[in-house]
Amino acid sequence: MKRIAVLASGRGSNLEAILEAEKRGDLSSGRVVLVLSDCADAPVLEKAKKAGVKALFIDPKNHSSRESYDQALVDVLKAAQVDLVVLAGFMRLVSPLFVRSFPMQILNIHPSLLPSFPGTDGIEQALAHGAKVTGCTVHFVDEGLDSGPIVLQEAVPVIQRDTVHTLRSRVQAVEHRLYPTAIDLFCRGMLKVEGRRCYILD
Ligand code: GAR
Repeated sequence: MKRIAVLASGRGSNLEAILEAEKRGDLSSGRVVLVLSDCADAPVLEKAKKAGVKALFIDPKNHSSRESYDQALVDVLKAAQVDLVVLAGFMRLVSPLFVRSFPMQILNIHPSLLPSFPGTDGIEQALAHGAKVTGCTVHFVDEGLDSGPIVLQEAVPVIQRDTVHTLRSRVQAVEHRLYPTAIDLFCRGMLKVEGRRCYILD
C-alpha cells in the first residue's frame, strides 16, 4: 500500500475527488495519510480533517528561504514515510532540493494541455490566447516549471461564451476524474518513465 501525501494551497476539490476515489475502492493500492498546506486558512485543511486525514499547516513565514521551507516539508513527509507526493493546487514552485528528495515520486495537476500555458494561471492564459481547445495535464514534477514527463492529459473545448469561471469548472470536472486515475496507476506500479516519455504498462 503506497502512502500518499497531498500538498495544496486552496479549495481542495482535487483532494476531495482523490478521497472519494479511495472510498469507492478505486485507489486499491494507495492511501492518503497526510495533507500539508502553506496557507493557514485553506479550506483543504478542513476537508482533510473532516475525512479523518491528518492535516498540517506549515508556515512559509517561519523560513527565510525556499530551500529552508522545502526542507521542513521534506522532513515531515519523510517522517510520515510517504511514497508519493501529490501536488493539488499547491501554488508554490518547489525547489530542486524538494524534487531530489522524491525523484519521480511527485505528481502535479495543471489546468492546461502542457507545454501550453504553464504557470499559475493556465485557464486565464488559454482564454487570453484565444485557444479553441485546452484541458488538463497530470505530470511528474522535475526541476522546471510544469515541465516533467506527462502521465495523462485530456482536452476540454473552449466555447464562445466561456468565462474564466465556466471554463475552470469544466476543466476541474475533468481533473477530478484524471488525477485519481493517474494516482492509481502510480500506486499499482504501472508507470514507467524513459526520458520525457511516461509509458503505462499493461
Ligand atoms: C486545480 O484546478 C489545479 O489544476 C490548479 O489549481 C487548482 C486547485 O483546485 N493548479 C495550478 O494551477 C498549478 N499551477 P483545488 O484546490 O480545488 O483542487
